[in-house]
Amino acid sequence: MQDYHEFLDEILVDAVTLQKRVAELGAQISLDYQGKDLHLVCILRGGVVFLTDLMRYITVPHTLDFMAVSSYGTARQSTGQIRITYDLKDEIHDRNVLLVEDIVDSGYTITSVLDMLRTRHPRSLRVCTMLDKPERREVVVPIDYCGFVIPNKFVFGYGLDLDEYYRNLPFIATVNLNKYKPESR
Ligand code: IMP
Ligand code: MG
Repeated sequence: MQDYHEFLDEILVDAVTLQKRVAELGAQISLDYQGKDLHLVCILRGGVVFLTDLMRYITVPHTLDFMAVSSYGTARQSTGQIRITYDLKDEIHDRNVLLVEDIVDSGYTITSVLDMLRTRHPRSLRVCTMLDKPERREVVVPIDYCGFVIPNKFVFGYGLDLDEYYRNLPFIATVNLNKYKPESR
């Protein structure tokens, strides 16, 4: 496996800054959901690192569920169509659902997920994304909580993968795609 130092271009968000922002988001969510029953829904796999940190900063009682979707596009470019590959375990009818995502890019993924979840009639449905890449947006997405707005660059780390690797890194970095060799695995 290629050492990430070989293709890392720039650290966009370092680990300390990340944790500080995740703590702020957790505090804000805790305020907003005071007295309400909160149900976190994490979209696998990219959102999972963010989720597990975020939930430890959320002080109101909450439950947790997961779903996975797959896009019909290529690895770095999604299309309008997605399908559920792993559905929620629990009903969300009449619950206060907060979707936790790694990144909103074109916006297609989150839009499809929101459309699907709306048909199940949650009491409320909000979006919390760690990253927002607005320059790439193709559909309008209502984002309620956002960690960082980033430029139009491909990033990895903190849940975000390069061909499924490097999700464990505690920071978010841009990749130099000329130096990255996926076939070196
Ligand atoms: P969208 O449907 O275009 O908004 O894409 C969202 C999904 O694409 C995210 O959940 C990520 O899995 C993936 N994605 C988009 N941009 C990046 C990136 O810069 N690095 C890694 N994954 C990304
Ligand atoms: Mg991905």
